[in-house]
Amino acid sequence: TGLVTVDPGFMNTASCESAITYIDGDEGVLLYRGYPIDQLAERTSFLEVAYLLTHGELPSADQLSAFTERVERHTHLHDNFKALIGAFPENAHPMAVLSSAVSALPGYYPESVDPFDPETVELATVLLLAKAPTIAAYAHRRALGQEMIGPDRGRGYVADFLRMAFQPNGTIWEPDETMVKALDLLLILHADHEQNCSTSTVRIVGSSHANLYASVSAGINALSGPLHGGANEAVLQMLTEIQRSGGDATEFMRRVKNKEQGVRLMGFGHRVYKNYDPRAAIVKKAADEVLSALGKRDEMLDIAMRLEDIALHDDYFIERKLYPNVDFYTGLIYKAMGFPTQMFTPLFAVGRMPGWIAQWREMVNDPATKIGRPRQVYTGPTTRDVAPIDAR
Ligand code: CMC
Repeated sequence: TGLVTVDPGFMNTASCESAITYIDGDEGVLLYRGYPIDQLAERTSFLEVAYLLTHGELPSADQLSAFTERVERHTHLHDNFKALIGAFPENAHPMAVLSSAVSALPGYYPESVDPFDPETVELATVLLLAKAPTIAAYAHRRALGQEMIGPDRGRGYVADFLRMAFQPNGTIWEPDETMVKALDLLLILHADHEQNCSTSTVRIVGSSHANLYASVSAGINALSGPLHGGANEAVLQMLTEIQRSGGDATEFMRRVKNKEQGVRLMGFGHRVYKNYDPRAAIVKKAADEVLSALGKRDEMLDIAMRLEDIALHDDYFIERKLYPNVDFYTGLIYKAMGFPTQMFTPLFAVGRMPGWIAQWREMVNDPATKIGRPRQVYTGPTTRDVAPIDAR
């Protein structure tokens, strides 16, 4: 019909109204529920931000301790998850493991799937936040062929996640406070980012009244692509290649600008930010501090800074308004913590969980929601007759 216009990539189509996250891409501003990201990063913890996003307001001390207690009560996974995750080959990408395990959750918690009962939705919210780090830690250990270690209540959400990931078998191990703080910060920075590819996926799947887990596991799969969450892994691969071939940032940038074999400067550019991504500014500062504090100075940090410096002074990037995005420096911190490259995108997923949940809840409660069903402009053949097979 004459009313339909094609908008590839939804460059100019709003799919919903939302009161969760505000981005001013020209000014480099990011607010969760009205609070600037730098204040949240400095003054709150990840679970406070998860509460803020999913419930609309920052928790009081009592609300936070009740919420934390509730989340910690559900961090255990059914024993069969060890078998489920153990059935994957060791070289399976942990994003495949994570999305599969999240898909499996409603099979184990069928009492938490009704999208229209607020108490059930609250239960599913808590269950997903609680189980995500345990699943991610299991996936990490599976890839290393190590025995999976279950959660231990009362240590703190991030600290226990790190312990489940890194504690050597048969020993007691506590993560360094620097690591805990740094990961908490990174999870906050990833917690929501309005209608990005994975969040739009969560909403469109949920618009069919599919349950929260089914919607979120679709979001995890959307996140896995290198143009989205997979960029953090791609950045480290890029830095590794540059380092291996002698560390020549200028030569790599020449290839990017000539668009040789479609090579892009991964971790740069954004659909909405046409200025410095405020998250990238915070991560860059943290990368410098955390690497020094952990005693893990990394030549790749220098390469990354050289790439950024070249880009910020080069017409190709200036004209196209390409700045570092959140993924540019995060991988260097994850690497310093000891995570293998394949775990970077699962860490993004653990961080994005509150955002996906909050957006799904807002969608379910919005009377304007309709099943997502974009139109198309058909460009195929007009009506024609099917010829018998020997005449084709
Ligand atoms: N390196 C080199 N050139 C680039 C880059 C880059 N990273 N990003 C965009 N361009 C160029 C692109 O080639 C195009 O040039 P031209 O006008 O000559 O054709 C122009 O800039 C506009 O790019 P686009 O692809 O039309 O922009 P988009 O809004 O569709 O894509 C993007 C946004 C993030 C997919 C893209 O910038 C990109 O591929 N970046 C690298 C991957 C990346 O870092 N993704 C993470 C995004 S942030 C967090 C997240 O979502 O996970």
